[in-house]
Amino acid sequence: MIALAVVGVISFIVMRHIGTNEALHNARGLTRVVGRGIAEPNLTEGLLKGNPAAISRFDRIMRRHVVGDPIVRVKLWTPSGRVVYSDARRLIGRRFKLGADEVASLRTGEVDSGVTDLSLPENRYESGQGKLLEVYLPVRTTAGTPLLFEAYQRFSSVASSGREIWLAFAPALVIALVVLELVQLPLASSMARRMRRGNEEREALLKRAVDASEDERRRIAGDLHDGIVQELAGISFSLSADAQQLDSEGAPDAANALRRGAKQTRQSVRELRSLLVELHPPRLREAGLAAALSDLVAPLAGRGVHTRVDVPEDLELPSKTEALLFRVAQEATRNAASHADAARVDLVVSETPERARLSVKDDGRGFTVDEAVLAAGRGHLGLQLLRDLAEDAGATLEIDSEPGRGTTISIEVGRP
Ligand SMILES: Nc1ncnc2c1ncn2[C@@H]1O[C@H](COP(=O)(O)OP(=O)(O)OP(=O)(O)O)[C@@H](O)[C@H]1O
Ligand SMILES: [Mg+2]
Repeated sequence: MIALAVVGVISFIVMRHIGTNEALHNARGLTRVVGRGIAEPNLTEGLLKGNPAAISRFDRIMRRHVVGDPIVRVKLWTPSGRVVYSDARRLIGRRFKLGADEVASLRTGEVDSGVTDLSLPENRYESGQGKLLEVYLPVRTTAGTPLLFEAYQRFSSVASSGREIWLAFAPALVIALVVLELVQLPLASSMARRMRRGNEEREALLKRAVDASEDERRRIAGDLHDGIVQELAGISFSLSADAQQLDSEGAPDAANALRRGAKQTRQSVRELRSLLVELHPPRLREAGLAAALSDLVAPLAGRGVHTRVDVPEDLELPSKTEALLFRVAQEATRNAASHADAARVDLVVSETPERARLSVKDDGRGFTVDEAVLAAGRGHLGLQLLRDLAEDAGATLEIDSEPGRGTTISIEVGRP
């Protein structure tokens, strides 16, 4: 649109310029025709000498054929500045100083034109006519004496004929510009469509990657749970049973050794279970948000981090909102566990009648925007995914972090 406007304005200026030039050209042409064709053949020596009969005769010719529209005044000068004839009869015989342009025109023999200076005494009878264009043309009497023929035209009529000329081109220009724009419209819209499709594909890919990794985690968690965890649990039971047996058979040392083995096995099972929770988030819908969030921080608590989960007791949120809050909490606690080196992690859910809010706050090392951008560049998209999720859901995600002062990630979402 900007390009179109620029082209339009430039064309407009150029066309107006061409129109005005053309109108000036026409005005000069008209003066030349009138001067050479009508005035020059009738320039007698009698007229030059001021003979009243010759003046009347010339005056009649001028009034009949020349003066009117668009030429409003005619003057005929000798090179020394005497007015030989004018249709303003009072000027005849008077002397004025010729302007530089007029003298130059007489010398070169060329037609020249300019805007009339109405303040000059020679032009006092033209002052009621508005802005005038004067065109001068060197002519000769029938005996060969050089004179200057000067015709005055109303500037408004020159300007309006200029306007007519360029207005004739304007519709073609406007149509051309409109057609140009119309041709570009489908191009622009197809480009926009392609970009939108590209974006959608990118989002779909991202989502599929996330889903795929979640499927994978679920599968690994399932395998672990059904295989190794069951086996280890079985081993710890049978070790305990064997220890009891050995006790009753009077071999306390061997029994104790087996009991230690059973204890370590149980510890391993516990660790594996908390790993399973990380790998495979509990089914949110069945256990509820509070339980799911507690499961999230359990591994952190197991590592000695102080954790707090604060969820209003009677909280009731749509399952979509719960899932969103859970996803944010999951990524934020995962980040806190792997990057923050925190001593405390607090998960707080609060609500108002209009909005629900979750915040995950750690007192760890914090990070800078640059660090997050760098991480994203290396394919670590955890936070970016949260932003996309929040945007899709029309929620507000805030990431507040400062090196040395911990990190708070919060999400606020409207309740339907
Ligand atoms: N709680 C935090 N404490 C300190 N640094 C953090 C914390 N959360 C994020 N960061 C920094 O911000 C970076 C970007 O985090 P993001 O979650 O986007 O990626 P990631 O955790 O590195 O990888 P991914 O989440 O994709 O597995 C991290 O690499 C880490 O440097
Ligand atoms: Mg992360």
